[in-house]
Amino acid sequence: MTASREEALARDAADPLRSLRDEFELPEGVIYLDGNSLGALPRRTAARVATTIEGEWGRGLIRSWNTACWIDLAQAIGDCIGTLVGAAPGEISVGDSTSVNLFKALSAASGLQKSDAPSRTTLLSERSNFPTDLYIAESVAAAAGLKLRLVDAGDLADHLNHDVAVLMLTHVNYRSGRMHDLADLTRIAHAAGALTVWDLAHSAGAVPVDLLGAEADFAVGCGYKYLNGGPGAPAFVWAHPRHTARMDREGLRQPLSGWLGHAAPFDFVPVYRPASGIGRFVCGTPPIVAMKALQCGLEVFAAANALGGMTALRAKSLALTDLFIARVESICAGQGLELTTPRDPALRGSQASFAHADGYAIMQALIERGVIGDFRAGHAETGEQNLMRFGFTPLYTRYIDAWDAADILAEVLGSGAWREPRFHRRAAVT
Ligand SMILES: Cc1ncc(COP(=O)(O)O)c(C=O)c1O
Repeated sequence: MTASREEALARDAADPLRSLRDEFELPEGVIYLDGNSLGALPRRTAARVATTIEGEWGRGLIRSWNTACWIDLAQAIGDCIGTLVGAAPGEISVGDSTSVNLFKALSAASGLQKSDAPSRTTLLSERSNFPTDLYIAESVAAAAGLKLRLVDAGDLADHLNHDVAVLMLTHVNYRSGRMHDLADLTRIAHAAGALTVWDLAHSAGAVPVDLLGAEADFAVGCGYKYLNGGPGAPAFVWAHPRHTARMDREGLRQPLSGWLGHAAPFDFVPVYRPASGIGRFVCGTPPIVAMKALQCGLEVFAAANALGGMTALRAKSLALTDLFIARVESICAGQGLELTTPRDPALRGSQASFAHADGYAIMQALIERGVIGDFRAGHAETGEQNLMRFGFTPLYTRYIDAWDAADILAEVLGSGAWREPRFHRRAAVT
């Protein structure tokens, strides 16, 4: 337990990861606690993007696909992401959005089950999954002749029965920050004959993940959150090699059969023949400028590897959320906040969420004071409460940030500053 501001400063001074903060452009006077939504800007990104635009695109022109190795970039970045999520080189494809990759992975999983276990008719997920996951699942279920069943997180194991074709889950819940046991649920799903599709949007770069160790089936993840790839950064998709090997053997495909997922795209033949391995999950041309920015984000993780890597990052992330939760609960008691993130570190991602009916206005008052988190609306029909989310990115967040953010929250609540009408006007993005 950190007992004073001085102690928080001392923890920063002793932090083995403290040098990583210098890798980022962070505005003066801002405590950035929204890296779970949009990661901060790595210092190296602007120059790299400028070089890509002015040199590689401007002067190299189309030659840069070969001379600047643009054509190999997706694979190279995929291999870097693999080191963070327990995938081997060559197993991850980078490009498209998380939503599009989820469509591909979920369609592939449903297709495999349709031929192996056609009597299974359920696509199972969690009711409080991120909306895009549920929307994509609706479409895949409709196309594959499955029915989508949504249950509460605690009931998942009970619903994994002979009827379930695919279990699709987000590893760390975007609202509560609650983390599933990926290995355990994969084991239960497999024992029931189901395949798993994991969304690692709030996990990759935030918590240790071991996809191969867990024998998971498919996974997708996001480039613009903890990987710091920039707004709209390309996402990624992984399939276990046992599935891609089978898809190779049987000539199976995922439905978005674009030309760069063809075995020989520059043969320009009229009939599709899928590339081998994860290559068949590539669709169209990758956004090279955005890929270069994402590569910069991943290079920071390479620097973190020399300082203890994901194990050290995870330890600091838990220490930061522990400090923030304890401080908020001690100085904001009686102000109507309710912690919705699990206290148990085994169940906690890298964020702390507090429910409060007026969370939106409180967050706007915090943002005006330089503490940037975000707000997620609740829904009476699902029992979800209005939430304030505070993301803790151990690459650049300091203990003093967690301490000061809690103090500023206490001031906003204690003074009632958030009651000002201007803080209640909803912007398009919350
Ligand atoms: C769990 C989860 N999955 C998917 C997405 C959306 O990803 P994309 O915008 O890349 O499709 C988000 C965005 O916040 C998310 O939190």
